[in-house]
Amino acid sequence: MTESVMSGSPGPREMSDGHRAVAFATCRITPEAQNAALAVLESGWVTTGPLTFDFERKFADWVGASHAIAVSSCTAAIELSLRALRLRPGTPVLTPTLTFCGAVQAIVHAGLQPVLLDVDEATLTLSPETVAAAASRTRPGAMVLQHHAGYPAPVPELTEAAGLEPWAVVEDAAHALGATLGPQAVGTLSGATCFSFYATKNLPIGEGGAITTGDPSLAEALREARQHGMSHDAWGRYGPSGSWRYTVGTDGMKANFTDVQAALGSAQLTRLDDWQVRRAELADRYDRALADIEGVTLPPRPPAGQHAWHLYVVRLGHGFRLTRDHLVSALAERGVGTSVHFIPVHHFPYFRQLLGAPALPVADRVFRGLISLPMHPHLTEADVDYVCGLIAGLARKGARC
Ligand SMILES: Cc1ncc(COP(=O)(O)O)c(C=O)c1O
Repeated sequence: MTESVMSGSPGPREMSDGHRAVAFATCRITPEAQNAALAVLESGWVTTGPLTFDFERKFADWVGASHAIAVSSCTAAIELSLRALRLRPGTPVLTPTLTFCGAVQAIVHAGLQPVLLDVDEATLTLSPETVAAAASRTRPGAMVLQHHAGYPAPVPELTEAAGLEPWAVVEDAAHALGATLGPQAVGTLSGATCFSFYATKNLPIGEGGAITTGDPSLAEALREARQHGMSHDAWGRYGPSGSWRYTVGTDGMKANFTDVQAALGSAQLTRLDDWQVRRAELADRYDRALADIEGVTLPPRPPAGQHAWHLYVVRLGHGFRLTRDHLVSALAERGVGTSVHFIPVHHFPYFRQLLGAPALPVADRVFRGLISLPMHPHLTEADVDYVCGLIAGLARKGARC
């Protein structure tokens, strides 16, 4: 079997017009993963079952967490983790505005009230100062913090600034698989950490997510809650030693993970260490090639610990002679895919209607200059050099390009 690839710009790297196709992200499913998934499809058992439980153990071990609960998405993971806190409906939950809209939808779906906060200008994560100010204003019951691009947010400081216990903090680690805060892995720092296995994430499965926790009773509650609150999942009812009886002791969601996903995930996991190393090498190469371009701010590096390099996000500012939107278009015309992480959530009509129009000036300002460059472990050195050469050339020519 050959490796299957999904990317923004498939096909040969060299294009007939002399440009080079460099995809913003790819989803490579290795031949081993494809074979493992095929075996599941042929086995007659394709939903949550023994392979899911096996994947959960392997994933928890990779992260260094006591428990992992595999679910349908990171969005579902955040909602389940918040619901498990059993907060009163409408309780305020602090979260950054510079995040994925789904993470804020999860707060709304859990019946809670998102409180959108500004971000730190340097790291694009929450800052203890903004969190402390918002906490004294709103008395939050929880916080959903985000490790932007894979930069590890300072979880203990943010938890303290919010006046919360670690169990009331949910980490959105969709970008942060493999990140460490000093010596401690993201996934072991708070009550519940939520990961994504979406097609472009560091561990790509296509769709899926997981929650890691050190709390065995939370792990058990989440396993029930991902399957309608039922005491026995399908394997427990229809598996070899199953029984038809079950009870429902809590509210729950349909957010389970399948053995097909688990087969892909377990096989992909064997490549993750190499992929993480490659991402870090590519980030180093980008840093070196972009360092001297006026008006380009490189991504921050954690003072201690490991960036997960899910994304390579640069900021364009004074001295850079194109707007962000011009650069995005000019790169696209030359074969290079880019993205923007993120449109601040308070810019969207739905959230403005729901939450009003809070003043979040740092997010508003940095958003205008944000651009995420291609980043995935299958980029070559030549790809990175091509992208950086284009940016340098476009920066010299300015708006005339
Ligand atoms: C920061 C962040 N949080 C949450 C999500 C949602 O992940 P999923 O698609 O697995 O629900 C994403 C997805 O891109 C994300 O970037």
